[in-house]
Amino acid sequence: MKVLLFGGAGYIGTHVALAFLDKGYEVGIYDNLSSGLRSNVPDGARFFEGDILDRNKVSEVLSEGWDAAVHLAAFKAAGESMVKPEKYSENNITGSLILITECEKHGCMNFILSSSAATYGEPQYIPIDEKHPKDPTNYYGYTKLAIEENLKWYSKLRGMRFAALRYFNAAGYDTEGRMLGLEKNPANLLPIIMECACGIRPQVGIFGTDYDTPDGTCIRDYVHVSDLADAHVLAAEYIMEEKENLIVNLGSEKGISVREMVEAARRITGKAIPSVDSPRRAGDPARLVASSALAHEKLGWSARKSDVDTLISSTWMVYQKNNK
Ligand code: UFG
Repeated sequence: MKVLLFGGAGYIGTHVALAFLDKGYEVGIYDNLSSGLRSNVPDGARFFEGDILDRNKVSEVLSEGWDAAVHLAAFKAAGESMVKPEKYSENNITGSLILITECEKHGCMNFILSSSAATYGEPQYIPIDEKHPKDPTNYYGYTKLAIEENLKWYSKLRGMRFAALRYFNAAGYDTEGRMLGLEKNPANLLPIIMECACGIRPQVGIFGTDYDTPDGTCIRDYVHVSDLADAHVLAAEYIMEEKENLIVNLGSEKGISVREMVEAARRITGKAIPSVDSPRRAGDPARLVASSALAHEKLGWSARKSDVDTLISSTWMVYQKNNK
């Protein structure tokens, strides 16, 4: 398989590239390096610098002929999407439509989308399965849903085959230490905790302590990025072999609160990691926990590295190496 990863130099994309290379597949990475890093591109992958909004460049690279495309080139900060929606509509929706239409034009008919649990919104029941109503509470989640809907239409109208992988909270780093590039300006909880542990930030704000959860802080399902990466390879193989579309949740099926995460990080790093109780952040559902039964059934996938100790220790290893 010859696979082109849009956004493949980013945090998740690099791990996905490693997973395809580990299986012996041919990998290309297309990235504008806005949050990705050139140094993240693994040996053995080809690199194309470009923006997904640059239709001519996308078309030029796709014209080489690819079996599958993986789309990881989206902005993903749920909080930011509520204050800068135009940034998200332009890149996430317009950019995705450019990729889908250009893939179709060049005969790259297998499309794997990095989608999100944010498509569900406030859960009506837990664990969340794929049949759960889709009613995003933040604009970011809406953009992912809009891309999924377009893939359904392009599948119906043009025979495009797709997999939408609804990630829960991606965390952790390659446990073999092959990925050392840190995300620029991280907005997610674990990198922020790590920046506190390294002394880059003075404290971590705990956004909301009055949620209807046992300790009052939000509960999330953290899934190791290498587990996510493996699922992309399995999904690409699945849609090509089974010739059917796939929409699956990818989560560890375990919920961890913000406070528990901070406490576990203190234990594992041995650092103080000061925290301060802070107001709620707009658009945050109280609790997100996955059912990944369908991914298990269809792909034989389950999270293997997503225990809290592996998530934190693999991240801490990379932060320490970068902050010596
Ligand atoms: N949080 C804090 N302090 C911080 C940062 C985050 O308390 O400094 C809290 C948030 O309020 C939330 C939890 O930690 O309750 C996790 O927040 P993240 O920003 O790390 O992640 P989100 O749950 O908002 O979103 C993440 C990805 C999305 C994805 C979603 C799926 O960023 O792309 O998980 O569950 F869609």
